[in-house]
Amino acid sequence: MMRSLLNLLAAEAFLASTLILARHDFHDALSPLPGISYKIPEPGHRSPTNYKVTKTNFLRLHAVKGDGTNSRSAAAILGSHQRAVPGGGGYQNITSATSLGTQYAMDILLQDTPMQVYLDTGSSDTWFVQRDFLCTDYGGVVIPQEACGFGPGYAGDFQYGAIPGQHCFILYGDGEMIYGPVGYSDITVANITVKRQEIAFANTTYWYGNNVTSGVLGLAYPSLTNAYLGTGMEHDWLDAASYPPLFSTMVSDGLVQPFFAIAISRNSSGGLIGFGGIPPISGLDYSTAATTDIIITNLVDNPFTSWEYSFYTIIPDGFVWDGTTNTDKYPMIMDTGTTLLYLPPPLAEAINNAFRPAAVWIWQYGAFFTACNAKAPNLAVIIKGVKFFINPVDLIYKDIVDPLTGLCMTGISSGGAGPYILGDVFLQNAMAIFDVGNSKMRFIGRSYY
Ligand SMILES: *[C@@H]1O[C@H](CO)[C@@H](O)[C@H](O)[C@H]1NC(C)=O
Ligand SMILES: *[C@@H]1O[C@H](CO)[C@@H](O)[C@H](O)[C@H]1NC(C)=O
Ligand SMILES: *[C@@H]1O[C@H](CO)[C@@H](O)[C@H](O)[C@H]1NC(C)=O
Ligand SMILES: *[C@@H]1O[C@H](CO)[C@@H](O)[C@H](O)[C@H]1NC(C)=O
Ligand SMILES: *[C@@H]1O[C@H](CO)[C@@H](O)[C@H](O)[C@H]1NC(C)=O
Repeated sequence: MMRSLLNLLAAEAFLASTLILARHDFHDALSPLPGISYKIPEPGHRSPTNYKVTKTNFLRLHAVKGDGTNSRSAAAILGSHQRAVPGGGGYQNITSATSLGTQYAMDILLQDTPMQVYLDTGSSDTWFVQRDFLCTDYGGVVIPQEACGFGPGYAGDFQYGAIPGQHCFILYGDGEMIYGPVGYSDITVANITVKRQEIAFANTTYWYGNNVTSGVLGLAYPSLTNAYLGTGMEHDWLDAASYPPLFSTMVSDGLVQPFFAIAISRNSSGGLIGFGGIPPISGLDYSTAATTDIIITNLVDNPFTSWEYSFYTIIPDGFVWDGTTNTDKYPMIMDTGTTLLYLPPPLAEAINNAFRPAAVWIWQYGAFFTACNAKAPNLAVIIKGVKFFINPVDLIYKDIVDPLTGLCMTGISSGGAGPYILGDVFLQNAMAIFDVGNSKMRFIGRSYY
């Protein structure tokens, strides 16, 4: 009862923050879409952040090939979401060609055991699969463990014990599911040891893994997490037992400044992540830097269930290519797991028309194609008046060739009615700083590399 009351209050706070939208300048850009809601978070930490370089609190991201459609990319999640929502649209034909399998893995310590986890900026929980877990198919029928595609499972138990009478149940946007006990253990990531972090062990899963990672480290905007009262598979918001996710504990324990920074490398070859500091990469161009507000895109109309999947989102000022500027405002999701830029159809068409020769839409791929030796336009995303140029090498995928026409895929696709996505094509040209303490995204340009 007490718990339900607390959760009602939490839900009210959540609603109150959703209403801020109505008073906010961005209102026009945040027009509702079927099955989507936006939220402007309240900054928890109002002092300016010092974005220093860290020499110790960073680690390497390893690019891993996902399954055929990289089911956890924002584009694929929006696709399955839209199939379930009438009036949805843009992401029907996300294929292995357009997703390229850019999932990022990182090495962390669970107590003293090295584990590889999948970095997910769209979910909040940190969990590990147990060695003796049950792998199930979509209908819940137990199938061989290999079918779930995990790396080695964890053989130990919670360092500080399980939390009695609670469990974790996570439904990812595309139907993947994990279920199991919750408890406390120390987690070490990038040389930062977080004591007694609440984590989950998955003992039952429906999962399309990459055969490398054994769990997920969730870095979504800290709102609600997926622990619930009871030991069955309850996941009603009334049963929710929210807790601070890993990065929130790291910050509240005073271990790091409240931001993390991600720099990914061209060609899905990996990248770096820094916690409370900027990872030491060369070629940062501090004269091309901008800070803008974080908006959270939730894949539901109902704020009560909006903890299921959420995306860090910004509203750029517009785009400029060759002599043309377009300053229409749209919310755009930042996603390292999505390869391309997904833009409103007229904008995607206009930019693709500016390739020489002009690119053409090929519907089987849900992408535009042009001659492999085409000249790409000089394209920039404008954020708070600053132009972030995209290296032309990122605008033509020389290794994604349509066998029928011999044409190569471009880096700009159409996102239909939205929401739109700034994927790797943009993120490999700018370091992204997720300043969750101040609810700001900061970008620093990277000189061509
Ligand atoms: C983490 O600490 C260990 C020793 O404690 C050191 O060898 C290693 O280089 C550190 N990692 C980073 C990224 O600084
Ligand atoms: C899985 O975890 C849940 C929640 O802690 C528990 O009730 C259940 O018995 C466990 N199942 C197995 C097969 O270990
Ligand atoms: C994982 O390994 C299985 C064989 O055990 C294979 O069928 C599957 O395609 C692999 N998945 C990936 C993403 O490599
Ligand atoms: C990797 O990126 C470089 C540009 O830095 C490009 O020339 C090269 O073709 C790319 N390689 C692959 C395999 O895509
Ligand atoms: C997706 O592909 C199907 C055929 O597989 C086609 O009918 C449909 O028009 C395509 N959708 C888009 C948006 O191109």
